[in-house]
Amino acid sequence: MKDRSIEKFNTVYGTKACYYGYDLRKEFTDYFADKALENKTALDLGCGEGRYSLFLAQRGCRVHAVDRSAAGIAKLKKMAAAPPLPIDAAVMDIADFEFKPGGYDIIVAATVLDHLDQDLRQRTISNIISALKPSGILYTNVFTVSDPGFGVKMAAAAQKNRENVSDTAECMEYYFAENELKQVFSDLAVLYYYEGTEPDTSHGRPHDHGWACLLAQKA
Ligand SMILES: C[S@@+](CC[C@H](N)C(=O)[O-])C[C@H]1O[C@@H](n2cnc3c(N)ncnc32)[C@H](O)[C@@H]1O
Repeated sequence: MKDRSIEKFNTVYGTKACYYGYDLRKEFTDYFADKALENKTALDLGCGEGRYSLFLAQRGCRVHAVDRSAAGIAKLKKMAAAPPLPIDAAVMDIADFEFKPGGYDIIVAATVLDHLDQDLRQRTISNIISALKPSGILYTNVFTVSDPGFGVKMAAAAQKNRENVSDTAECMEYYFAENELKQVFSDLAVLYYYEGTEPDTSHGRPHDHGWACLLAQKA
């Protein structure tokens, strides 16, 4: 599964400019719109082609971005080169990333916790909480059991290109239960929480996603 997922993301990131588009979730841009980000430090886990990293770095934040897709990181490095942006991007599995306790003002984990197996997901959740500085902000989103991909066997999702299911559903490891995202980060104060199902026309053929999105702050 790991190798197939890396291969799939390398293939899709090798296509158009930004496979998932440059649009970010509105709750993320709304929250950071009026925040001073100069010299803040951010970690973007499973950054893909780095759309969240680019937003933060364009506002002066120093970003550490990691993803196990070499094609995603190569594209991000190219985008961050001219004009130069403060992004340190590395091809790395989150399983091998050394989280520095209290190391980051901002951590982004956008549709990646749901790509991790149970053990790595639980370790990563603990590591995120520990790696935030006091008052640090987490932005994370995941797909939930309301996603049409939930319950579709991964191989079937890949082979049959099922109606209304994302073309990258085969890379999913887990769909979060109702309210689960909020519960696993209950050590943090919730600033914003949303669950719902929405259409997605940014990649592949039109499909829906069941989302849970969380903005939260460490005490
Ligand atoms: C759905 S994409 C989201 C990309 C990006 N966060 C965004 O919102 O545009 C999921 C990303 O997680 C990455 N990923 C999945 N498992 C990973 C792991 N164990 N370590 C590092 N990256 C991983 C994939 O390579 C892929 O780029």
